[in-house]
Amino acid sequence: MTNQTLPGGMIRSTAVTGPHAGYMPGFGNDFETEALPGALPQGQNSPQKCEYGLYAEQLSGTAFTAPRGQNERTWCYRIRPSVKHVGRFTKIAVPYWKSAPHIDPDVISLGQYRWDPVPVGDGALTWITGMRTMTTAGDVNTQVGMASHVYLVTQSMEDEYFFSADSELLVVPQEGRLRFCTELGIIDLEPKEIAIIPRGLVYRVELPDGPARGFVCENYGQKFDLPGRGPIGANCLANPRDFKCPVAAFEDREAHSRVVIKWCGQFHETFIDHSPLDVVAWHGNYCAYKYDLRTYSPVGAILFDHPDPSIFTVLTAPSGQEGTANIDFVLFRDRWMVAEHSFRPPWYHKNIMSELMGNIYGIYDAKPQGFVPGGISLHNMMLPHGPDRNAFEHGSNEPMVPHYQAETMQFMFETRFPQHLTEFAAKEAPLQDDYVDCWDSLEKKFDGTPGIKA
Ligand SMILES: [Fe+2]
Repeated sequence: MTNQTLPGGMIRSTAVTGPHAGYMPGFGNDFETEALPGALPQGQNSPQKCEYGLYAEQLSGTAFTAPRGQNERTWCYRIRPSVKHVGRFTKIAVPYWKSAPHIDPDVISLGQYRWDPVPVGDGALTWITGMRTMTTAGDVNTQVGMASHVYLVTQSMEDEYFFSADSELLVVPQEGRLRFCTELGIIDLEPKEIAIIPRGLVYRVELPDGPARGFVCENYGQKFDLPGRGPIGANCLANPRDFKCPVAAFEDREAHSRVVIKWCGQFHETFIDHSPLDVVAWHGNYCAYKYDLRTYSPVGAILFDHPDPSIFTVLTAPSGQEGTANIDFVLFRDRWMVAEHSFRPPWYHKNIMSELMGNIYGIYDAKPQGFVPGGISLHNMMLPHGPDRNAFEHGSNEPMVPHYQAETMQFMFETRFPQHLTEFAAKEAPLQDDYVDCWDSLEKKFDGTPGIKA
């Protein structure tokens, strides 16, 4: 095995090569990886003395006693134990990153909302200061619910690190690339991919080539998992092998460094004199990973009607109530539309779940106009929504021939909890005041006489 030294001095294992260079494939696997030969103990977790003078440390993502199928932990072999990566804490203000419960009495969350893309701007914004919370749901202290954010990043973090004790982050880039240098390795991320950064994992976010914008779902609850496929069987939707976990990479760097921690909705800083990204080897199933949305294999109607959008679920974060997710991450990608004698766009509906959608690129079939790449819409708990007039008329009159819905990719963060708008979402972000008017021109066709109406 040889190792690769990356810009910034990070040393990465090259044990995995070929189509997955730098990554290990599989969802929830028990991985093992080492950036220096022999750094990973074999046959036990906690030797009396570790190779290279490393410290052994366990990172537990679930309770020790969680059932086997949910139990997640990783053993890290690191230059310093994590107790050396924090000192005394000072509270700091990160004013645009909000946590639930956050109900602004001056903001109305009841309504159908849509936003144009939030401009990146030219201010100096890092992964931390560039986070703009749009909605919050549930309660971060009881570990239920979520927040949705837009990130606007113009600066790499330098000698600065972050972790969230509150949440795992699902990151959906829309413009620009991101590099996550984490304790467990490096994830390079670009639009049409997603990453999951687990609760408690320390990392730094860099910009490889300029400003970046995208979306984040901050999950306060149980971790994202693959949905059950039921009668679909063992294949399609998101396949486990398409999830990629980074190989071990570490820094041995002495430098005055700041660590920012999100804990119970509050932000704190602490200063140390070295990089905390010092895990030389690790094994376990609690890790960061990425997934290419282009590998998602959609399953849908092949004769008539339109299944519930849950058929497009990529990942689901359970709530504890069977079948009712804390969060579903749902993908609407390019696909064939072949249903006969059917209204093919999404139907009108009201939903107990709350749906926040983002457009990664292309045109969404229920809203041909106004929902542009980078844009967001929110259809909150029990608020009716559906196709606008143009989409309805097109769906009602289009020829029933196979049609390829090309060049399109949108997602949904759907939660069982109502989503409350932040002040930023209601007053600073480019809210489309006229969104609700998109249904105004839908006409009454009923006149009491039978027959199909034009
Ligand atoms: Fe909906």
